[in-house]
Amino acid sequence: MSFLFKGDENPRQRFAGEIMPDLKEFFDLAVEAARKAGRIQREGLGRDIKIRLKGPKNLVTEIDKGCEEAITSLIIERYPEHGILAEEGGARKTSSPYRWIIDPLDGTTNYTHAYPFFCVSIALEENGEIVVGVVYDPVKDEMFCARKREGAWMNGCPVHVSRIDKLEKALVAAGRLTKKDRDVDVQFASFRKLASKALALRIDGAAALDMCYVAIGRFDAFWEYGLKPWDTAAGWLIIKEAGGQVSAFNGGPFDPFGPEVLASNGIIHRMIMDNIL
Ligand code: IPD
Ligand code: CA
Ligand code: CA
Repeated sequence: MSFLFKGDENPRQRFAGEIMPDLKEFFDLAVEAARKAGRIQREGLGRDIKIRLKGPKNLVTEIDKGCEEAITSLIIERYPEHGILAEEGGARKTSSPYRWIIDPLDGTTNYTHAYPFFCVSIALEENGEIVVGVVYDPVKDEMFCARKREGAWMNGCPVHVSRIDKLEKALVAAGRLTKKDRDVDVQFASFRKLASKALALRIDGAAALDMCYVAIGRFDAFWEYGLKPWDTAAGWLIIKEAGGQVSAFNGGPFDPFGPEVLASNGIIHRMIMDNIL
């Protein structure tokens, strides 16, 4: 479904007969919402908080809920017509071309252990395409963000993926290796192969932040099976705008609703692909 008028020089000029709002306005809102949630995360860190199992090895805390409420209430107040897909609250379906995809706290397991690697992830879709991505690490006060075709930044400075061109020089991040719908031996086999070939591997436990680390060159690649759109949507755009590559394990197009994410600086993409199963 398209709301764009054929022949418009700038397709952003019109939406269903109206002037379309500037992407910058949405971007600023995402940054504001991420900071608000980040403050909640900082204040709750290390405190005695309510933790519940929502599935096997899947925790949710009052902080996840509080962050989601803070983000979604801000969005609904400014843009009540927009759709929302948020991890803890499910879907808010509307007929708007805009939908916010939100992970209010990525890295909940880390958070419950006061392991300081977690973040807020907020993406905005326009007609099914991610146009804004914001990931905020409140511990380091690092704001990673991107706007489609305009670039990617960390704390306002343009960022780029690394130029590492050999596996033996690459710092590679893996995700969780025990996803229940996949053979655990297969998941560990990829890890074993890359552990022997890469400079070093890390499992840090917050996929959205792992992806931003690829975008800014701290990691040279990242792969994980079984992620959800709220884990990857913002990180995907940030990596793309930083010059990197994101795909399925076989190099095919990345599908945020599919289970496979392989992200890299592009240069070593094939080398990583050849080692993951
Ligand atoms: C999790 C983190 C983790 C990944 C899990 C995700 P959550 O998200 O991104 O790194 O391994 O698959 O579910 O539950 O902390 O938002
Ligand atoms: Ca997550
Ligand atoms: Ca989460």
